[in-house]
Amino acid sequence: MAYSIAIHSGHNSNVCFFTSNQIIEVIAEEKFSNIKDDNSFPKQSIEYLKKKYSIDILENVIFCSKRFWIHKHNKELFTGPPTTRIFFKSLENIINFAKIRLGYNSYLNKRSLLNGINFFKNNFHIKVKKFSSMDHHKCHAFSAYGFLCNLNNKYLSIVIDGQGDGKSTSISLIDGNSYELLSFSNWYNSLGELYSATTKALGFKKLQHEYKIMGLAAYSEEKYFSKIYKNIFKKLMYLDQNTGVPKSKISSRDFEKYLLSKFKGFRFDSIAGALQKTVEDLVMNTFEYWKNKYPDLKIIYSGGVVMNVKINKLLSEKFGDDIIFMPSGGDESLSIGAASYFISQNHTSIKLPKLTYYGPSFETSKIMDALSKTNNYSFDIICEGKKNSIDEAANLISKGEILCRYSGATEWGARSLGNRAILADPSNFDSFNKVNNYIKMRDFWMPFAPTILFEYKDKYLYFYGEQNNQYMVNAFDSTEEGQQKLKAAIHSKDKTVRAQILKQDDNPGYYNLIKQFYEISGIPALLNTSLNVHGYPLVSSPEQLLFTLENSQLDYCLINDEILIKKVLINRK
Ligand SMILES: [Fe+2]
Repeated sequence: MAYSIAIHSGHNSNVCFFTSNQIIEVIAEEKFSNIKDDNSFPKQSIEYLKKKYSIDILENVIFCSKRFWIHKHNKELFTGPPTTRIFFKSLENIINFAKIRLGYNSYLNKRSLLNGINFFKNNFHIKVKKFSSMDHHKCHAFSAYGFLCNLNNKYLSIVIDGQGDGKSTSISLIDGNSYELLSFSNWYNSLGELYSATTKALGFKKLQHEYKIMGLAAYSEEKYFSKIYKNIFKKLMYLDQNTGVPKSKISSRDFEKYLLSKFKGFRFDSIAGALQKTVEDLVMNTFEYWKNKYPDLKIIYSGGVVMNVKINKLLSEKFGDDIIFMPSGGDESLSIGAASYFISQNHTSIKLPKLTYYGPSFETSKIMDALSKTNNYSFDIICEGKKNSIDEAANLISKGEILCRYSGATEWGARSLGNRAILADPSNFDSFNKVNNYIKMRDFWMPFAPTILFEYKDKYLYFYGEQNNQYMVNAFDSTEEGQQKLKAAIHSKDKTVRAQILKQDDNPGYYNLIKQFYEISGIPALLNTSLNVHGYPLVSSPEQLLFTLENSQLDYCLINDEILIKKVLINRK
């Protein structure tokens, strides 16, 4: 079998392992390093694949950007982008023009690829027939195309992110393996960067906490944020009617400093509200602009900004099934895009693993063996139920307990889709407090989300389209019954719900657990939040599960739907 890999080395580094017609596995470096959004070269991921599939030769190694970074424990070994910051203030356009004319960008692209090749050869000792690199935004576009679309059809692709290979918004046509770039915003006109810079200016972590600003925004009202919206954000960015993409009055590099100087005297929630409204308007205007030009084409949407489920809600309401959202469409999906592009050159369909459970999985015996090694921890593990573990787990949840489910392969993206999940009764508001106090430590304004069984979704939510609802990529308005039964898994202010709609085939074990809970409680849903300690990535290995149990008040865990375990505190002194 001829294997290939695509490598993203940068924010949330990841690797996609594939053949000429099939994506076999996608793995993020954070699964091994336990560093959230790990941006070091995905060395451990490649070593894992090399060992698992006995790789000694690869057809293709594709780097998922023309210019990428090679880090080791966040220490930079090679710098891709140029460091010409001081010049950008007044000479930005002249310098960029000169660089293009002199072929400077193409030189940097070549140098980046060469560094990547050398690093790969020196570290992995695998024979590689061909190395190449692929444009960052093209990877984003093809991730959605390969993952979600019929490769016989033509689509309009819209990518919006912070920046990659000099672009921050790109519009393209994709048909088979042909890619036609129609328009783009440069990195210094970045809508994603506007969100990130405001996130940082408000004292949050850039590239991690943008979702907190989105959650906070709903607590503000237009009458409170309209001044900030009109006088600060609207004056800063606009949709350029000639190119159909966002433009800014100053370079994105200077957003944070500029915004900090303007925010003085305004409330933090009003700033969040104004930002969300600005970005919603600009994204909506961009989509309307291009949908008018290509009314017959469906739009595929990817890039980091697709993680903003409130914008997606508005897009769904306007465009319904004409828009297809890439699940977890940040840079963690880049390697899927490069693989999809390569496969689409020779095939009209791609075989994919189920849903997005792409990461490592472990046999029950191996998990139990790892969980028995608690010498350095403050607890022992006892087996609570072996025969009817799913029934026992559903019973516990209905009695107000919270538990985690550690089952099958790890989710690839940012969202828990049930396999590495903390689960609770969504109708009991005590669940919210318990989950928060036991482990999540979420900010007081942030909601949890539910998983709802497909057959009952209309009882609780209103829908404008049917696609992608299994990936938690969209928010929905809730029915009155939904607001009652999902009290602990709903946004307290605007009553929207970022739900995962689950079909039995997508995850039979998880489905059965919720079904069992439904039979006891009459509620076909569970509160589902990711299994991780605050600030850490989603749990992957059994060792990470032990760490999570030690650093939380979680007591119960359902292992592979076969064994229900309980944590018992031990005084080892
Ligand atoms: Fe990106």
